[in-house]
Amino acid sequence: MLQNGILQKRRCKPLDTLNQIRKRIDTYDRELIQLFEKRMEEVLQVLSFKKEHKMPIFQKEREEQVLKKAAENIQNPLFEAEAREFFEAIMRISRKLQAKLLFPYNIVLIGFMGAGKSAVGKELSLLLEMELIDIDAYIEREIQMTIADLFERYGEDYFRDREEEAVEKISKKKNCIISCGGGVVLREKNIANLKKSGKVIFLEAKAETIYSRIHDDTTRPLLKGHMTVEGIQKKLEQRESYYQRAADFVISTDHRTEKEIAQEIISLLCEGSFAVK
Ligand code: S3P
Repeated sequence: MLQNGILQKRRCKPLDTLNQIRKRIDTYDRELIQLFEKRMEEVLQVLSFKKEHKMPIFQKEREEQVLKKAAENIQNPLFEAEAREFFEAIMRISRKLQAKLLFPYNIVLIGFMGAGKSAVGKELSLLLEMELIDIDAYIEREIQMTIADLFERYGEDYFRDREEEAVEKISKKKNCIISCGGGVVLREKNIANLKKSGKVIFLEAKAETIYSRIHDDTTRPLLKGHMTVEGIQKKLEQRESYYQRAADFVISTDHRTEKEIAQEIISLLCEGSFAVK
């Protein structure tokens, strides 16, 4: 008994110490969550202010500043990398929250091959922490075949049917960036589904720009044997009215980087209505 009693005491002591440490951690976590809430509320105030004054919503320079200040404020250099990671996560989360409030719908990118849909889609997805869905990549995954092989083996109509199914499914998602194949606008049903699901942005580019971007690419079946500025121009003209009809916004991508285009899309969409409660 006595021995047991002593044993129990010995076992209890380190446990007490652990419990005390955990209690202190719980207190810090309570403080952290309160601070986190306060910080997010301020972020929403900033968002409201920027919207009201038509300022760019997502500013990389400000994020750099926050990280720099965190590095300056840290006392124990052992945690420097972790502190950076912590603040990077906070900023990712606050970007995601802002995007969710600003864009409670899908952002749909349409336009000719080489107009920059994939590159701009990636940029938007990073900036807004929104999921990127590339319809061609989705079809390739579903069918386990590249688009080029699919065209070669089954022809364009078969591809368009698969594309229509994919659009129907993907349009049901929310808060995503959807990058479409260049010919998605050829079917009325696709346009209706995409417009219902979000805002449609037509990325426009001149035939010369498109040629300079994709002339080495052999994976575009519809340009096989027509990979010239004139060949592209001809197809562009056939498609122009379809793109215009489907678009909520038109953005020119000639001589511009994907970062600039993504920022312009955000600014254009932000002019729509939204309220921070
Ligand atoms: C097509 C464009 C391609 C792909 C398919 C058909 C088109 O997508 O969907 O080859 O009809 O313009 P990208 O525009 O992403 O190259």
